Amino acid sequence: RKSVVRITTGSQALDELLGGGIETLCITEAFGEFRSGKTQLAHTLCVSTQLPLHMHGGNGKVAYIDTEGTFRPERIVPIAERFGMDANAVLDNIIYARAYTYEHQYNLLLGLAAKMAEEPFRLLIVDSVIALFRVDFSGRGELAERQQKLAQMLSRLTKIAEEFNVAVYITNQVIADPGGGMFITDPKKPAGGHVLAHAATIRLMLRKGKGEQRVCKIFDAPNLPEGEAVFQITTGGLMD
Ligand code: GTP
Ligand code: MG
Repeated sequence: RKSVVRITTGSQALDELLGGGIETLCITEAFGEFRSGKTQLAHTLCVSTQLPLHMHGGNGKVAYIDTEGTFRPERIVPIAERFGMDANAVLDNIIYARAYTYEHQYNLLLGLAAKMAEEPFRLLIVDSVIALFRVDFSGRGELAERQQKLAQMLSRLTKIAEEFNVAVYITNQVIADPGGGMFITDPKKPAGGHVLAHAATIRLMLRKGKGEQRVCKIFDAPNLPEGEAVFQITTGGLMD
């Protein structure tokens, strides 16, 4: 039986909200408006995952699937330095791939699973999990097919999380709610509908605060304690 590993986000407040950090064996989703910190959290996790367990890391490698072309290796350098790690060694342990279509994204997952069988990975990032689906199935009447393919991708991600004891961190976009009661106070909601809501174990809703300050709330989890975590985006990654 595999035991769960919790990986620090770099912010103690956010770690506490999460019960210690982002967890292996499941999917953590972050959604929020542009510049809310989804990709910066991904960059921080790329480094913190490689910390030893006693430093709240995962002592493992990282796989990064980038669908928007926003991974910046040069951002990894100051984050590694902040954690006292050698930046080149950290970069060597990030397996990076850019995906251009949803099918490409799916096939990359198959290739990564083969790699994970051979080397100790502790984190898989897909930033963003849904962007290519929204491009590739943009026509009217394609929603059902899109949701079916999205479900397939997410079930593959769940399988990878469980088989290799990795944390899966995915980012999602917000869409304007076309109408109706539930989101009347907040007209934005995560894309992906029930399919994504069902697949993600933890859903993080990020929003901008003052300056580099960001606020995270756990979305739609009646069993988890309510509350918010406030953190900063810095050159060294997420911090309190
Ligand atoms: P989208 O992908 O556009 O939806 O946004 P996102 O949620 O992924 O936002 P992202 O994580 O890219 O956050 C971008 C913000 O992080 C920038 O607007 C800056 O405020 C901050 N940021 C990025 N790099 C640095 C840095 O090197 N130093 C500092 N202090 N802040 C940074
Ligand atoms: Mg981003």
